[in-house]
Amino acid sequence: MRSQDVQAAPRLQPEELRTALAELKAVQAEVSRVYQGPASVSQMLLVSLLAGGHVLLEGVPGVAKTTMVNAFAEAVGASFKRIQFTPDLLPGDITGTFVLDMKENAFRLRRGPIFASVVLGDEINRAPAKTQSALLEAMQERQVTIEGETMALPAPFLVLATQNPVEQEGVYPLPEAQLDRFLLRISMSYPSPQQEAKMLASHGAGRPAIRPVLTIKRVLELIETTRKVGVTDTVQRYIVALAIATREHRAVLLGASPRASLALQAAARAHAILNGRDYANVDDVRRVARPVLAHRIILKPAVAVGGVTQEDIVAAALRDVPYDPA
Ligand SMILES: Nc1ncnc2c1ncn2[C@@H]1O[C@H](COP(=O)(O)OP(=O)(O)O)[C@@H](O)[C@H]1O
Ligand SMILES: [Mg+2]
Repeated sequence: MRSQDVQAAPRLQPEELRTALAELKAVQAEVSRVYQGPASVSQMLLVSLLAGGHVLLEGVPGVAKTTMVNAFAEAVGASFKRIQFTPDLLPGDITGTFVLDMKENAFRLRRGPIFASVVLGDEINRAPAKTQSALLEAMQERQVTIEGETMALPAPFLVLATQNPVEQEGVYPLPEAQLDRFLLRISMSYPSPQQEAKMLASHGAGRPAIRPVLTIKRVLELIETTRKVGVTDTVQRYIVALAIATREHRAVLLGASPRASLALQAAARAHAILNGRDYANVDDVRRVARPVLAHRIILKPAVAVGGVTQEDIVAAALRDVPYDPA
């Protein structure tokens, strides 16, 4: 990489980068005490934390989605709330409600579980659309309005939502047009036989305790650090070319938007930090492209496109758009 290529931005000091990398590895090490599976899952959660975006975790029941998010929130040292989505959950159960204080004879706001730095929205597709919207709006605006009163949510504010595959009965699929409020969609699958055996061995005496590695203050600093990661013109042109390729695919109704390109750049910066670099390269972009882009692509009706998936569209873009390896 040519250094003059890097956009003028406050440079990241080597010391700052080294410290960040050590802390992030420590978070991953903590999480791996509880979750036996590919390191890419905790890596992608860190990408979202650093890039300031939300995550949709998908997988069948019992693959440790809830366990993973709990462990991650604890390791990051953030205030943490879990919201279990159910068919009778109301928007006010998420944001909060005014309750009558008998002693004062006045209405007092009872803040909902959304007021935390890390919020686990568990099984969000089990609640109807109106309740999902309360969460999706808070994610987008980083504030909530309760009976006309607007209140800011904490910073950082990270929503990790889990969802079971939508083919199940009695679930409400998330509105396609709102899926792009998630920076990343991550699929969690079954562990390998070795990982599953290791899980059995490590679960004898209950779940291992997680030590907090970071603090809220450090998380905010790390988000600042991530913003200083350099991105060259070449890499930016590659991001744009990938987005355009998804728009032009014959099976696609609506491809990656410019907002998706921005998300791709932010995630690539975070991925670079996790690899100890102060600049993002084409490889960073390629590594995050699938979780950043796939869920934002709206396909033409199934009859017209056969079995093509959103992931296939991203894979085709990664295959067809030319690039110079890093
Ligand atoms: N890969 C894994 N590593 C560690 N524990 C696992 C793994 N997969 C499943 N488990 C265990 O299985 C149980 C169910 O996990 P849970 O987080 O409730 O799953 P989900 O939220 O996906 O339904 C927990 O006790 C969890 O520790
Ligand atoms: Mg669960």
